[in-house]
Amino acid sequence: MSILVTGGTGYIGSHTCIALMEAGYDVVIADNYYNSKPVVLERIRELAGKEPVFYNCDIRDRAGLDKIFTEQKIDSVIHFAGLKAVGESCHMPLQYFDNNVSGTVVLLEVMAAHGVRRIVFSSSATVYGSENESPLVEDMHIGSVSNPYGRTKVMIEEILNDLYASDDRWSICKLRYFNPIGAHKSGRIGEDPNGIPNNLMPYISRVAVGKLEQLTIFGNDYDTPDGTCVRDYIHVLDLARGHINAVQKTLADTGLFTYNLGTGHGYSVLEVVNAFIKVTGQNVPYRIGPRREGDLACVYSDASRAKAELGWEAQYGIEDMCADAWRWQSRNPDGYDG
Ligand code: NAD
Ligand code: UD1
Repeated sequence: MSILVTGGTGYIGSHTCIALMEAGYDVVIADNYYNSKPVVLERIRELAGKEPVFYNCDIRDRAGLDKIFTEQKIDSVIHFAGLKAVGESCHMPLQYFDNNVSGTVVLLEVMAAHGVRRIVFSSSATVYGSENESPLVEDMHIGSVSNPYGRTKVMIEEILNDLYASDDRWSICKLRYFNPIGAHKSGRIGEDPNGIPNNLMPYISRVAVGKLEQLTIFGNDYDTPDGTCVRDYIHVLDLARGHINAVQKTLADTGLFTYNLGTGHGYSVLEVVNAFIKVTGQNVPYRIGPRREGDLACVYSDASRAKAELGWEAQYGIEDMCADAWRWQSRNPDGYDG
């Protein structure tokens, strides 16, 4: 079976490509290297011991995608390609709608033209917005999101719903990721954000490795046990494995499916920092700063549907996530530029 992975050289995509190849799938990657580098492809090869087929292709490039579907026999698609920075999306909303939403429409049109109607889509817990209380359940009403990035995810979910309503030969799995962190056990691939990281774990790792001076914890006056925000962190390897189950679902059934991929457990920012310090033995200086605009106090999943229907549940805990994030960061202090 051959799987097209858009965004396959990105953070989650690279881990998923390895998991797919280890599970015996043939992998075809389409990525434009907007937020990744050719060296990732070499490391995927090295770790999987196999060669994925690679196309340097923008998902908005209809002719480019058409070439891939003509040259390769694709059975199912995992669609990671997209822009993902919340803050950036507020400054360049049109690029986000164009890349994420228009890009997905082009991809779906080309798939339909080639009779490929199986897709796993990277959605996000962000679609639950501010109105729903954790634990978050897939059937909750979504859409009250506060930023263009989140809106692209809601819009794409709605496009997929409408597509399935128009043609029930499709098999569509929408996966809502909670907070992916950690890295491959080898320390060879991991998350490599450009510039100063926005997200917690890359920030902590860069403080620990001496690239940044101090972590600022955004607020300690939330209504949570220790006052800092609570999130459902999930190991990227668990997430990668979840995609194998989701692909199998698309190959086995037609239908429209939505699954949370989280652990079902929340950890506070302070708990994460302390777990990291404990597991790595590194010093992580921090200070308490003001709240970050748009942050919610407590976000975690109800992960029971993925367990019941996909037979998937997270296996790694917060200490594994910290140890593996640190292995990647400490062995690659300059990320993929090292
Ligand atoms: P990433 O930026 O590391 O990977 C995305 C990949 O897509 C990159 O390699 C990039 O070059 C590629 N890409 C972007 N636009 C493209 C285009 N138009 N054509 C071809 N390739 C393109 O991000 P990630 O963390 O691996 O996230 C993957 C997906 O999961 C994204 O859709 C993201 O929104 C979603 N997601 C991520 C998180 C997270 O915390 N990382 C959480 C929820 C959802
Ligand atoms: C953020 C995005 C969300 C996206 C997710 C992907 C926002 C508002 N939300 O979620 O849409 O799907 O990333 O992983 O940007 N923190 C600090 N100091 C830091 C960085 C973070 O205290 O330097 C705190 C944050 O306040 C938050 C927690 O750590 O409480 C996790 O932050 P982050 O990793 O950015 O993820 P989310 O905010 O959950």
